[in-house]
Amino acid sequence: METKAYLEIIENAASAIETVCGKAEVAVILGSGLGGYVDALQDAKCVSYADIPGFPVSTVPGHAGCWWVGTLHGKRVYMMQGRFHSYEGYDQQTVTLPIRVMSKLGVKTLIVTNASGGVNTSFAPGDLMLITDFINFSGKNPLTGPNLDEFGPRFPDMSRAYDRQLQQMARDTAAKLGIKLQEGVYCWFNGPCFETPAEIRMARVIGADAVGMSTVPETIVARHCGIDVLGLSCITNMAAGILDQPLNHEEVMETGNRVKDTFRKLVDGVIEAM
Ligand code: HPA
Repeated sequence: METKAYLEIIENAASAIETVCGKAEVAVILGSGLGGYVDALQDAKCVSYADIPGFPVSTVPGHAGCWWVGTLHGKRVYMMQGRFHSYEGYDQQTVTLPIRVMSKLGVKTLIVTNASGGVNTSFAPGDLMLITDFINFSGKNPLTGPNLDEFGPRFPDMSRAYDRQLQQMARDTAAKLGIKLQEGVYCWFNGPCFETPAEIRMARVIGADAVGMSTVPETIVARHCGIDVLGLSCITNMAAGILDQPLNHEEVMETGNRVKDTFRKLVDGVIEAM
């Protein structure tokens, strides 16, 4: 898509959201299983993605399509119930449209959450993981094409993709709440098929602790426009080939569901601490 047309889409989506929700300083992308967290918002309002021009309607079960806003621990917070994945067929501009919209609407801090497969064999399904860095193994980059100068530089730095202060806040919050928090590198595979056992062995060799199908494009675009990012992952299953059993989406949903209350407490604690 041409830059001018894309900038217009960003502008129109932002103004549709601002009309209903106003501005906010913090945004949370709710991954699989975490959608219920919108209950925590006071004076909550939401816009369906269907009513936001340029937004596609999410196709994955467990990912509703709604942009929420409300007050949480004295902060104005957006929550995205449902995100856009590259494997659904959306181009990178569409996958990361919400992040550019957040930037337009004044978001300074983004919390990205997701479900992932554990590559590190010391992890167990149900563990929560602080994302310390990412590996982009998708062959895609959302910043491909003409640079959007009004958002950020051509060659943005990724040496601190996940903000150190926010990482420490997550560690302190987990310790305070007695929540076990693993740490590691999240590797983005495009999906939608789960990885092969050979790919998972490779991922381990190149330094991955978890694999998943989201989060990295969002992180890249957020960093491009100067938004600080915290990444939190729920290890919903051991990645392919680690256990002698097939993988399926039901297992991902089941584990996500089992630990959602703990996951939610952690995210909530971090927002309170911010
Ligand atoms: N691989 C990729 N994405 C995932 C997985 C996995 O094993 N589990 C949850 N999301």
